[in-house]
Formats: sequence, structure tokens, C-alpha cells
Amino acid sequence: MSLLPSPILSSRRRSFRRDTPNPSLLNADFLFGRARITNLGVIILSALASLSFLYNLAFIFSPTPTIPNPYRTHDSLAGYEAQQSILSTINRTEEAEQLSHLIIVPGHAIWTGVWAEQTLDEDYWVLEDYQRGHSAARLSAFVSHITRGAELALGDQRSLLVFSGGQTRIGSTTTEAESYMRLALTTNVFLSASSTPSTRDEIPFSRATTENYALDSFENLLFSIARFHEYTGRYPKQITVVGYEMKRRRFTELHRAAIRWSEARFGYVGIDPVGEGGAKALEGEFQNGYMPYTVDTYGCHDYLLQKRRLRNVFARFHSYFSSSPELGGLLSWCPGGVGESMTKIYEGPLPWDILGEYIV
Ligand SMILES: *[C@@H]1O[C@H](CO)[C@@H](O)[C@H](O)[C@H]1NC(C)=O
Repeated sequence: MSLLPSPILSSRRRSFRRDTPNPSLLNADFLFGRARITNLGVIILSALASLSFLYNLAFIFSPTPTIPNPYRTHDSLAGYEAQQSILSTINRTEEAEQLSHLIIVPGHAIWTGVWAEQTLDEDYWVLEDYQRGHSAARLSAFVSHITRGAELALGDQRSLLVFSGGQTRIGSTTTEAESYMRLALTTNVFLSASSTPSTRDEIPFSRATTENYALDSFENLLFSIARFHEYTGRYPKQITVVGYEMKRRRFTELHRAAIRWSEARFGYVGIDPVGEGGAKALEGEFQNGYMPYTVDTYGCHDYLLQKRRLRNVFARFHSYFSSSPELGGLLSWCPGGVGESMTKIYEGPLPWDILGEYIV
């Protein structure tokens, strides 16, 4: 509307031009004349609309989405406002802001039990088919991961224990991580005075929390760092993973290197199921875990992507692009375009570059 002059203005202009009959102004007269002004407006508006339409088309059909600059905190005003509305609800404790050691316990299944007696009972676990059979040893390994993680957390006042794993099974109402946390509290691994707090506002153990979105081991590692950042407002200096011994190589050689985390600041505590089925499980991990990650470092193609897709049964979106915008580049890094290797290590800036001696 502002493109169209008011009738008074245009009639004044017209009379002025009529008084000065300059031939070169005839064209302008045609465009600015009172009857024609609408034509000019329509032409300008149509041109703008076409440009805008073409721009949108280009945006919608652009083959490669732009990777957000990890040093730019907010990619749009809308994103900034959305983030502010969440940030305004966050009031971290002083204790949380002092933490520097991230202890990760990756989940492997979902516990549905309520009582401590149900922790080693297959009926109270949502398991994959391949996890059934020899389940007693397997379940006791899961429980050992939880208790060992808790022991480590109790032994280091600067640590935050993060149980990590999404709602990966259709038969469950909670995430893997939440079920591990529930198991931990039920079996009183934090040795708190009471495992079930007497009042609602009492946190049983403030240095343990859940990461509810990871769909595989690589995401256990990366998302737990992002979750640590949500909880403490900072990135960890030290990471310890408590998991299967048979996954040690995958974590220490592949996942750690993929996120350019220093070897010197990375620990791995391995606990495998004891007894039968060990050799078969080891072979399974090598064929279905380690090997695929040697050719697809970020687990974002074909076989590994399909695994994640099958585990995201409730179509969940994680929160880490908004809570850890400086990890945006790494979170969306998926090499393997035309002429590019799927093992190309992410080279953008990372918050832990300044701490590390590990540089690719
Ligand atoms: C944040 O929490 C602390 C207690 O941990 C409290 O003293 C403080 O008033 C809270 N701040 C706001 C803005 O609510």
C-alpha cells in the first residue's frame, strides 16, 4: 500500500507536470499519471511476488541444506526467541555449574520393573530378539554398568552421571535412560538415605541425569556431551564411558576420534556378560557395530542410518541444536557427498578445541 501515493499527492504531481510540458517526461507521465499509478504498483508488486516465489522454490528444492555456523549462536530471530523462552526457565544450581567430568552409561534395553527383585528378570525388560537367551548374564551386565557408573560418580564430586538412550522400543512408555535411572534409584545405587524421597521436591541424587534421545553408541557419546552442557551450562573436560568391554574399540578408536575428543581425557570401563554366548556377541559387535562404523564414521548412511530409523519408533526430535548451538555443525555433519569420503572427519570449530591437544 505504501507504494501507492495518496490521491492528493498524485494529482499535485500531475498538475505540476502538465505545467511543464517536457517531452522527456511523457513516459513518466504515463507511469505516474493518476490512472496509471495502479498499473505501476501492480507491475512492481507482481515482480516482487515472482522473485519471492522463485526464492522460496530455490530454498525448498536446494539439494544441500546449509550447515549452521557453529559459532553463530542463533540462526534466525525466530530460533533465538524460541531459545530465549526455554533459557528463561533454566536456573542451574551452583553445584551443577562446577561439574567437569562426564560419566556416560549407554542404555541397551528398557527396564519396565518397579521393584528391585525385578531387575534380573527377563519379563521386566523390553529386549531385542537377539538379546534373549543367556539373558541372565546379559541383564546382570546391564545392572553392573549402572552400579559401576554410580560408584564412579560417588567417587568424584565433580562428575555428572548421564544415563543415555532414547525410547527405542515400541513396547515401552519410557526411554532407555529413564528406565536405567529408575533402576538405579530402585536398587539404591547412590546410597542415599532413602531411595524413594519422602518429599516431592527432594532430588535423590543431584549428580545423575538422563539423556533421552540417543539411538546408537555414537549418539550416546555426542548427545551425552550435549546433555552435560544442558545440565551444567558447560562442556566436560573429562569423559568416562561405562559399557560393554566388547564395545571399547568402537568407542575409543572410532566414536572418540569422530568428535575429535582427546585420547588423554577419555576413559572406558568395560564390563561384558559372563559365561555362554560371549564369542557370538563379540562377533556380532564386530560385524554389526565396529565394521559399519569404520566406513561410515558418523553413522548417517544406509545400514547405520536404517538402524537409527528403526529405533526412533516414536519420531522424537532431540533438543541439542537449540541447547548446544555451537555443536550444530557436528550434529548435522554427514560426509559422503559426491566425491567425498563417508569417513571424512568433521573439521569445523568445536568447544573442546581450546582444551585439547588432539588436533586432526
Ligand atoms: C535459582 O535457584 C536458587 C536456588 O538454587 C534460588 O535461590 C534463586 O532465587 C533462583 N533464581 C531465580 C531467578 O528463580
